[in-house]
Amino acid sequence: MPRIAYVNGRYLPLADATVNIEDRGYQFGDGIYEVFFAYRGRLIDEALHFARLERSRKEMSLAAPMSEAALRVVIHELMRRNRVETGLVYLQLTRGVARRDHAFPHPVPRPALVLTVRPKPEPPQMLDGWSAAAITLADERWGRCDIKSINLLPNVLAREAAKRAGALEAILFDSAGMVTEGASSSVWVVGADNVLRTRGLDHHVLPGCTRAAVLEDVAAEGLEFREEGVSLEALRGAREVFITSATSFVKPIIALDGVPVGNGAPGLVASRLYARYLARLKEG
Ligand code: PDD
Repeated sequence: MPRIAYVNGRYLPLADATVNIEDRGYQFGDGIYEVFFAYRGRLIDEALHFARLERSRKEMSLAAPMSEAALRVVIHELMRRNRVETGLVYLQLTRGVARRDHAFPHPVPRPALVLTVRPKPEPPQMLDGWSAAAITLADERWGRCDIKSINLLPNVLAREAAKRAGALEAILFDSAGMVTEGASSSVWVVGADNVLRTRGLDHHVLPGCTRAAVLEDVAAEGLEFREEGVSLEALRGAREVFITSATSFVKPIIALDGVPVGNGAPGLVASRLYARYLARLKEG
């Protein structure tokens, strides 16, 4: 069965799903995206992802391609056509097709909406085996990382550097030596003082939907938590480090730049939050 994509109103086999070379996403990276995790037919943290999509769209002054309700219908239809119940849904919205000129085109073109889905295994029941190594790297991205823009070149280079070092994620730090986030994840740290921290939201980090959902779990677990930055030094001395995202759920980082984090195994805080995550999936 060929994979089916949604492209501007049509459901097409992936091989036929093409976009115009004058699409501003292709020419300028002038667009935004979302990644949803679908679990047994349901989109996880759905409202958070739609709210972020709307926020990114407005920050970029992009036209809305359709209502949120219609978008939900398209996503579920695409999942049905691909026979995917558990997997990833990728949504990309660009400013559309126009003669190449940097400023926004007038008249405003129809925004280009593309969606793909692909199956993904269900999250494992146990954290063992669901952990990874990371490297640290200077954050060389732009000043509006809070917008989920398709401009991902620095993120791509950071993930490639991680891969070459035998790691999964690159944990980025700003010019002041403070951790921002992962190349495609939010970063959480349990310090030597046993306090869990993640950076507050500003223009230097993406407001992660999984981050927002896990924050509720942190409160429910009664964990000692502070929404504040962590220095590279504190990161290196951490008891636990873990990342969150729609694709990594809650994933412990057990080695950093080749050095074990804590005792080199998934920690208690990550285990508790992962259990909460699994429970949320099942409760719906
Ligand atoms: N990335 N920070 C960055 C830079 C990200 O790219 C992502 C997600 C996150 C976590 O956001 P969320 O919890 O909403 O997935 C944080 C997606 C998965 C991606 O680019 O594939």
